[in-house]
Amino acid sequence: MTADPRGIIAEAVDAALAAAHAATSMADLRDVRVAALGRKAPMSLLKGSLRDATPEDRAEIGRLLNEARARIEQALGECEQALAGAEEARALAADRVDVTLPGRRIPPGHPHPLAVMTERIVDVFLGMGYRVAEGPEAETDWYNFESLNMPPDHPARTMQDTLYIAGSDLVMRTHTSPVQIRTMEAQEPPIYIVVPGRTYRRDPFDASHSPMFHQVEGLAIDRGISLADLKGTLAEFARQIFGPEQRVRLRPSYFPFTEPSAEVDVLCVTCGGSGCSACGRSGWIEIMGAGVVHPNVLKAAGCDPSIWSGFAFGMGIERVAMRAYGVQDIRGFFENDQRFLAGFAG
Ligand code: DAH
Repeated sequence: MTADPRGIIAEAVDAALAAAHAATSMADLRDVRVAALGRKAPMSLLKGSLRDATPEDRAEIGRLLNEARARIEQALGECEQALAGAEEARALAADRVDVTLPGRRIPPGHPHPLAVMTERIVDVFLGMGYRVAEGPEAETDWYNFESLNMPPDHPARTMQDTLYIAGSDLVMRTHTSPVQIRTMEAQEPPIYIVVPGRTYRRDPFDASHSPMFHQVEGLAIDRGISLADLKGTLAEFARQIFGPEQRVRLRPSYFPFTEPSAEVDVLCVTCGGSGCSACGRSGWIEIMGAGVVHPNVLKAAGCDPSIWSGFAFGMGIERVAMRAYGVQDIRGFFENDQRFLAGFAG
């Protein structure tokens, strides 16, 4: 035996413990174990050379070797546990959910301004005892024109540029008026209905036209209904939609399905009636057509004009919304630009 075996053992233990504590990974620890306890480790070599030692030395050094091995094994075990704990803590920290972080904001949606205006208009009439009726958007010539006192050669047909459906006898309805006929056919008077819906015309898409737009039709059929009832009803409507000071003006006009017929104006919402550029200095703005239902229309729908009379009106929802909200360009309603639509979020 050359060197002092006790020194070799003490050195090996010191080196192994220092290396074990310095290890930063499981792989490091494996290397420490091989260096301290492997076949070529100083302590293993020492054990091999014990054959030449005296029995006393052999017993003592064997005991020292066993103790040293146990200390190293224990240190390796402890370091292994510490490293595993640190690794787990790292993984947990990386996975942690911070419940105190503010949530992601989802901007709330809101109804489209035309939907809002349709509901406001319909609500006014529901409050007066009307009910809502609906009809098809692809309509027959009979309901869209003929039953409304517009026979095929009637010049008033050119008032509305019609979209025809190729390969069929149907047209895209140019107004909601056909639902007047459908309702009168389906039920006995008295009738009080409002008809919101889409309508179509062969129009350009510009600041004041859209080939698809919306109307609300109104129809009241009862005994003894007159133009005065129409005016009173529309005056109340105008006050509820445009404000308590509102007034309506009926201007003589022509529609084939009413006699007499009128264009209905309200006081200009921009100037209040004094005259400005929005109303062409007149103080009034037009919002709808209306009139007393023509006897031919009652007859076409199977109502006896000697018993029943009524009034009807039809308004463009876009037009009413533009006037009520001060919108200049109808295209804003259809282009889905959030900067425009968000202005109506309520
Ligand atoms: N249907 C007409 C249009 O679209 C509007 C209208 C005018 C409806 C007079 C009516 C009415 O019910 O009586 O231009």
